[in-house]
Amino acid sequence: MGVPVRVTVNGEPHDLDVEPRLLLVHLLRDRLGLTGTHVGCDTSNCGACTVHFDGEAVKSCTVLAVQADGAHVTTIEGMAKEDGELHPMQEAFWNKHGLQCGYCTPGMIMAALSLIEESDGALTDEGVRMGLEGNLCRCTGYQNIVKSVLAAAEAMGASAKG
Ligand code: FES
Ligand code: FES
Repeated sequence: MGVPVRVTVNGEPHDLDVEPRLLLVHLLRDRLGLTGTHVGCDTSNCGACTVHFDGEAVKSCTVLAVQADGAHVTTIEGMAKEDGELHPMQEAFWNKHGLQCGYCTPGMIMAALSLIEESDGALTDEGVRMGLEGNLCRCTGYQNIVKSVLAAAEAMGASAKG
């Protein structure tokens, strides 16, 4: 028997009946079709499934769908504007070649955004490496990911100052 859950995803409310054992990542991918959130391990090691849960970056394979009742979740699909304009973090990953296969990228972007928010404008190369240590990339060697996040932090700081 399903458990009723009301969750707002990328600003849109959804009322769903879910199995108590269903993970949030599977609700997003299989029930809502938001396949930008990836599954790299299912054991909370890779970070490919990272989304924002009430404003905090979480690995959505570590959250039960029933725990999302009443929550606001943002996925990579919620990043670009409706007219297709990319978020500055997406733009930075594009410009600085922060991705190769792209499998880790949605999780990296969601984790990096939280990192920037937490860093209060004082992000360093070392800080990015430490902040993203829960997100694994098998392709890039991380160098360009770090560059991307620092570039995004600068762009977002500049736009925040107007
Ligand atoms: S799929 Fe969630 S951490 Fe790997
Ligand atoms: S770009 Fe391929 S896993 Fe990171």
